[in-house]
Amino acid sequence: MTGEEPGAGPPIVREIAALRAQIALWRRAGDRIGLVPTMGALHAGHLALVRRALDAGERAVVSIFVNPAQFGPNEDFALYPRREAEDVAALRALGAHLVWAPGLDEMYPRSFSTHVRVDGLTAHLEGLHRPGHFQGVATVVTKLLRQVDPDRAYFGEKDYQQLQVVTRLARDLDLGVEIVGVSTVRDPDGLALSSRNLYLSAEERRRAAILPRVLARTAEAASAGVASFAELLHAGEMALTEAGFGPIDYLQICDAETLVPVTSLERPARIFVAARLGRTRLIDNMPLARAAP
Ligand code: PAJ
Repeated sequence: MTGEEPGAGPPIVREIAALRAQIALWRRAGDRIGLVPTMGALHAGHLALVRRALDAGERAVVSIFVNPAQFGPNEDFALYPRREAEDVAALRALGAHLVWAPGLDEMYPRSFSTHVRVDGLTAHLEGLHRPGHFQGVATVVTKLLRQVDPDRAYFGEKDYQQLQVVTRLARDLDLGVEIVGVSTVRDPDGLALSSRNLYLSAEERRRAAILPRVLARTAEAASAGVASFAELLHAGEMALTEAGFGPIDYLQICDAETLVPVTSLERPARIFVAARLGRTRLIDNMPLARAAP
């Protein structure tokens, strides 16, 4: 099927028929399956998701597919890092069980014309600034969940709105999979790991650490009620602009479940940011501590 040999690392499967054959073998043996969808250029954040599946005793299936449908016409699809050999080596070292790396034609056969759209949640944040993005994500994730049919699928809180969208669609479409959210893995200076950090120059990378600091500071002040959310967010935007970020697509505090912007802390909330540093668009988010009763 894939040149699988003992010690050779996870097989790389590129065809749905071969994927299903392997999954069926595992199912027959009573194994549980965990899926980690990715676009590759793997870093420690991705690997934390894989480790969660392995720790749960699941067969860890990692998909690597740079999904054109979730990139806008002026976004970085062509430029997006592709490093399959390094990715597979990292997954092998970790003990992942299978790499699902379909080609474009396997994922989107000619005349492909079915799309999954999640309403409501996508009317905010990234959904406003990247039209069509979540339809592309929802469609490919639905396909990945159907192809692998895992017991659980793991998504990072780094892309918190995506995690909410996927949780919603899995429930709405009765996909019978448990969606598990995993905390954001950060570099020691606080910057959330991201494949797009590879685009940053050394100077930009140094400055990028200001983003999580502004988020943390604003979240803390908002939880403590030291000023209105609007004032604190304005101060946060000023700090980012001063540090060389811009344009800032949004810096907002939103309800953690509905993602609707809020002005007070009555329910669990998070702070979200998307801002450009040079040519790189960075996103991040953090929870707000609940106000003292
Ligand atoms: P990608 O950006 O490769 O991310 C794959 C998964 O890794 C996502 O669930 C993302 O939230 C998670 N992740 C990324 N950085 C992380 C970090 N620093 N800490 C923890 N988790 C992190 O997200 C996508 O790909 C795509 O949209 C995909 C879901 C694969 C659909 O194409």
